[in-house]
Amino acid sequence: SDKYAVFGNPIKHSKSPAIHAAFAAQCGQQIQYRAVRVDEGDFTRAAREFFSTGGAGLNVTVPFKEEAFRFADRLSERARRAGAVNTLSRAADGQVEGDNTDGIGLVRDMVANLGWVIQGQRVLIIGAGGAVRGVLEPLLREQPREVFIVNRTPQRAEQLAQEFADCGALAGGGYDALGERQFDLVINASSAGLAGEMPDLPSALLTERSCCYDMIYGAEPTPFMRWAAHHAAWAVSDGLGMLVEQAAQSFYIWRGVRPATQAVIGEIREAML
Ligand code: ATR
Repeated sequence: SDKYAVFGNPIKHSKSPAIHAAFAAQCGQQIQYRAVRVDEGDFTRAAREFFSTGGAGLNVTVPFKEEAFRFADRLSERARRAGAVNTLSRAADGQVEGDNTDGIGLVRDMVANLGWVIQGQRVLIIGAGGAVRGVLEPLLREQPREVFIVNRTPQRAEQLAQEFADCGALAGGGYDALGERQFDLVINASSAGLAGEMPDLPSALLTERSCCYDMIYGAEPTPFMRWAAHHAAWAVSDGLGMLVEQAAQSFYIWRGVRPATQAVIGEIREAML
């Protein structure tokens, strides 16, 4: 059976092996999928060895997505825009192709799973790091009315907005710039929540119809999710569905089969509690 793996550091708690095992079982595909902890500085060597010993595809997670971008022989347009790769595949000609499925994963979870609308909506993204760069192009493809990127370091948000200005109505700035503005969809991509912190958002940000999505997930509601619930958001979600959807897109790239995700999201959720 074909060999797949996810490279990251840390990797112990990776849910990718369980997700891909569930997809393979569902689709009747014979695959092996392992989680591998790669030392910092060793990614390129490890990836080269993986592909030269018959590896068919690799998922790449923190902190190696930029290195995977440089490692790929060929890049999809969205990976090129993201500056980061989370899916590597060995092509028929032996070259390694790099793609980024994070943005598609986010959009699918919000639109197909949660039934939220992006088109025509006012979208706020919190954070301006690699996680945001990775999802901007697919998000802007859904034609939101406008996207504002807000970040602790305003220049990073402004720079990101400039870089993707050709993809849609996009601006960026610091928390001061939010003023009394309101948004229909608020996506948290800052890593503040990982430290149990919450960026300082104005309490008037949400309307009674606003949807709030945290790209982080966990057994407990995140600080951003608690903030959203406290401010009476219409709907609140963590990022577990995004994780499963980006995996589904990788699986599709590798196997040419699109797994159903709903039951898998449920299984992973249950295993986490
Ligand atoms: P990632 O790949 O997860 O995006 P990153 O590039 O380090 O990681 O970006 C982390 C993001 O979280 C940044 O937008 C960062 O803000 P700065 O650009 O100002 O550093 C944001 N962030 C991290 N800790 C934060 C905190 N305590 N409050 C607000 N924003 C925070």
